[in-house]
Amino acid sequence: MQICKVKNYQELSRKAANLIAAQITLKPDSVLGLATGSSPIGTYDRLVEMYQDGDLDFSQITTVNLDEYKGLPGSHEQSYRYFMNTHLFHRVNISYANTYVPDGTETDSEKCCQAYNELIHRVGPADIQLLGLGHDGHIGFNEPSDHFEDETHCVDLTETTIQANKRFFASEEDVPRQAYTMGIGTIMRCRKLIVLVSGKDKAAILKQVIQGPVTPEVPGSILQFHPDCTIIADEAALSEM
Ligand code: GLP
Repeated sequence: MQICKVKNYQELSRKAANLIAAQITLKPDSVLGLATGSSPIGTYDRLVEMYQDGDLDFSQITTVNLDEYKGLPGSHEQSYRYFMNTHLFHRVNISYANTYVPDGTETDSEKCCQAYNELIHRVGPADIQLLGLGHDGHIGFNEPSDHFEDETHCVDLTETTIQANKRFFASEEDVPRQAYTMGIGTIMRCRKLIVLVSGKDKAAILKQVIQGPVTPEVPGSILQFHPDCTIIADEAALSEM
């Protein structure tokens, strides 16, 4: 694990965007594994700026997102498909057909997960996978558990996650209780991982992820075993190290 310590969210976003931009420049048909949440918003904004400046071309890029709420259609403002459209896909010259997010409208979990796994097998492991970190240590929506899941599966969201994500919904009752997420195995098979962690509220869990034992109770701790994982974290997030 490489730790890249930055001053603040702005610097974190610029550093992450630079790494992704280098990937796109060196391999224009890269597969990007993308994430949602507040952590990557600044990174997407910076990538859009680079695109507008003529420095980036997304025309041959394929993207595979980590997760989606079960039950939310892409037209729902809190769906991750909507998030990706708004923050990145509709702002750059990506071919929309090459952007993939699990299908939240599929009520048959097995069918949804199988389709997403087949897609991942077809397009290959991501060349670079962006990750955020949940307050309970989740990556994607892989919640604390007694084992690591390999591939895409349907998860029950933990109370911590429901509480953390309710700020985006009209009321707590509106937060979906389940989600589809890429598995830990799929994430670990990506060639390069970039984890974005910002803010004091993430300091305790980040310390566990970096220095604690590797355990499915803290899903992000598995990243200690990845051969090319860079954590970009600001001073506040690293304040308990
Ligand atoms: C969400 C997402 C994760 C994200 C995490 C942290 O629930 N499923 O992919 O990384 O929680 O979110 P944030 O970046 O807003 O702190």
